[in-house]
Amino acid sequence: MTERIETLTIRRPDDWHVHLRDGAMLGAVADFTARTFARAIVMPNLDPPVTTPAAAAAYRARILEAVPKDRGFTPLMTCYLMEDTDADVVARGFADGAFTAVKLYPKYATTNAAHGVNNVRKVYPVLERMQTIGMPLLLHGEVMDADVDIFDREAVFVDQVLGRLLADFPALNVVLEHLTSAAAVAFVRDHQTGREGRLGATITAHHLHITRNALFEDGLRPHMYCLPLAKREEDKRALRAAATSGESAFFLGTDSAPHAVGAKEADFGCAGVFTAHAALELYARAFAEEEALDQLEAFASLNGPAFYGLPPNEGRVCLVRDESCVSDSIGVEGDERVHPFFAGWPVGWRVETAIGDRARGTPDRDAKSDRPLSTT
Ligand code: NCD
Ligand code: ZN
Repeated sequence: MTERIETLTIRRPDDWHVHLRDGAMLGAVADFTARTFARAIVMPNLDPPVTTPAAAAAYRARILEAVPKDRGFTPLMTCYLMEDTDADVVARGFADGAFTAVKLYPKYATTNAAHGVNNVRKVYPVLERMQTIGMPLLLHGEVMDADVDIFDREAVFVDQVLGRLLADFPALNVVLEHLTSAAAVAFVRDHQTGREGRLGATITAHHLHITRNALFEDGLRPHMYCLPLAKREEDKRALRAAATSGESAFFLGTDSAPHAVGAKEADFGCAGVFTAHAALELYARAFAEEEALDQLEAFASLNGPAFYGLPPNEGRVCLVRDESCVSDSIGVEGDERVHPFFAGWPVGWRVETAIGDRARGTPDRDAKSDRPLSTT
């Protein structure tokens, strides 16, 4: 039995997949991400979606407006890929730094995916250009064929779509977002060599903690509903093994996706689990359970920057054991609230300080940054 680790200091992490939304919701959730993570890949599935460099720049400005100035937080923006997206617009946005990557949503696959891609062939000219300029493609990896079981959508995607895509674009850097299946983990591992381009994958915190059983535990549980759906126990085990392996292909992406309680507890309820309030803590919990806390820094703070060709952050964050409970809900505006993952339960960890950062641990920090992550 190894000795229980009580505190852990790691390089400040980044979140390589997050939904920050807009308006009041952005105001309510943005700082949960900014106070822990130095950078975040911000998903473009707003309504209307972010499709131009100007829209990305304006959205980025609204995000920065929503977080305290001293956070040292950098949003990295993405372009929502549509069948009629112009390769020149994408390339211009990448060249001037407005876009870091392009996100492909299969049409109707998830929240605000109505403008997504039905026929991948139609976006081949854009992918061609991205391959040339070294711009990463981020994939929501699910097929939407009506005859494919919803729990098999990811496995069928990697088998029938992704393999072909990687072969057709051998130098394209691709991230398979929010892995949920052992099949996807195996696919990513099997495609680490033999191409010029890289294949990376993000893993969420909630998929390290739940299986599809969580959707039906003691009743129907809309707050456990996200896409891709959580799968079986053996899939969760494969995700935990991948995340804690230290392998450079796997990195942190929360897919924290807030929806108002009313939008989730409804017929046609929205997909998305909100984890930003305790994101790093939830990963630490899973890594601790796997006795692999020594691998958390690689997964959270090193592998992602290496994939994106960015330096790791200089700051540090300190995780401390903490048994206080996550609050039941987070206020947005008026009566509107978000139901956080692990609501009413102790995550077991809290992010205490950031070291060597402008963000925290400084005497002049604002009152907001003193809020313990687990009791907001
Ligand atoms: C995300 C959202 O709500 O924007 N929902 C989700 O279930 N993950 C979209 C997505 O990433 O699929
Ligand atoms: Zn997402």
